[in-house]
Amino acid sequence: MRTPIVAGNWKMNKTVEEARALVFAMSLKLREIEGVEKVLCPPFPALLAVSALLQGTDIGLGAQNLHWEEKGAFTGEVAPNMVAEFCQYVIIGHSERRAYFGETDGTVNKKIRAALAHDLIPIVCVGETETEYEAGQTGEVVRRQISLGFADVDPAKAAGIIVAYEPIWAIGTGKASSGENANAVLADYIRPALADLFGAETAQAIRIQYGGSVKGDNADEFFGQPEIDGALVGGASLKADDFLAIVQAASRP
Ligand code: PGA
Repeated sequence: MRTPIVAGNWKMNKTVEEARALVFAMSLKLREIEGVEKVLCPPFPALLAVSALLQGTDIGLGAQNLHWEEKGAFTGEVAPNMVAEFCQYVIIGHSERRAYFGETDGTVNKKIRAALAHDLIPIVCVGETETEYEAGQTGEVVRRQISLGFADVDPAKAAGIIVAYEPIWAIGTGKASSGENANAVLADYIRPALADLFGAETAQAIRIQYGGSVKGDNADEFFGQPEIDGALVGGASLKADDFLAIVQAASRP
C-alpha cells in the first residue's frame, strides 16, 4: 500500500507574515488528519519561518526549486544543501518552470540527482500541454519526460521519489482532468515508463500524485482512483479550509 501524499505548492504567494498566518490557521487541524503525508511548499524567503512552526509536527516542508550545483557563481540560485537545511522535499520540473524559466528534461534530471544526493525527496512534475493532449500525444510526452528526467537515477533511491502528473491545461484553469482520465495516464504511461527504468516492483512503490485544479469538491474523484496517490495542489493550498478539505479527502480509505 502506498501512503497518499498531498503537497501544497504556494507558488509565488505569501510573505513571511502571511505564510505564518496560513500555517497557524491550519496546522492543528492538519496534524489531526492521519494516513496522509502532508507537505507545504512556500516560497524560499518563508522556508525558515515555516520550518520553525512545523518543528515537532508530522507536516513536511518542501522548496519549489533548487539548483544542481553545490555552490558558486550562480546568481539568484539556491543550492541543494541550502534547501536541505530546512526542507525534506523539493518540487522539480513544474510546468511553470519549464514554460517560463527554460527548464528542460536535462535540467530536471540534474536537479533530481542533486536532490537525491542530499537526501531530499523530489516531487517531479510531468504533463502535457493542451495542444499535445488534443493531438493524442499525452503518452509520448510523459514517457519522454520520465525517461529523460529520470535517466541515471540510482534505482536504490528511486522508490522514494514522488511523481506529480499535471496536465498543463488543468493547472490554474478550474478545468481539472477527470479521475478516470488521469488514472489511465498513470496506468498506461507513467508507471510503465518507471517500470522500464527501475523494474516493476520499484515502479509500484513510487507514489504518483495528480495535480491541476484539485479542490475540496473534486478531490474524492481523484483519490478514489487506484493509481492516484495524492495531489499536488496550487490555488487551493493558499486557503486553510480548502487545503484541509483536500487532505481530509486523501485520508479517507
Ligand atoms: P492548481 O495548480 O491547483 O492551481 O491548478 C497545481 C500546480 O500547479 O501544482
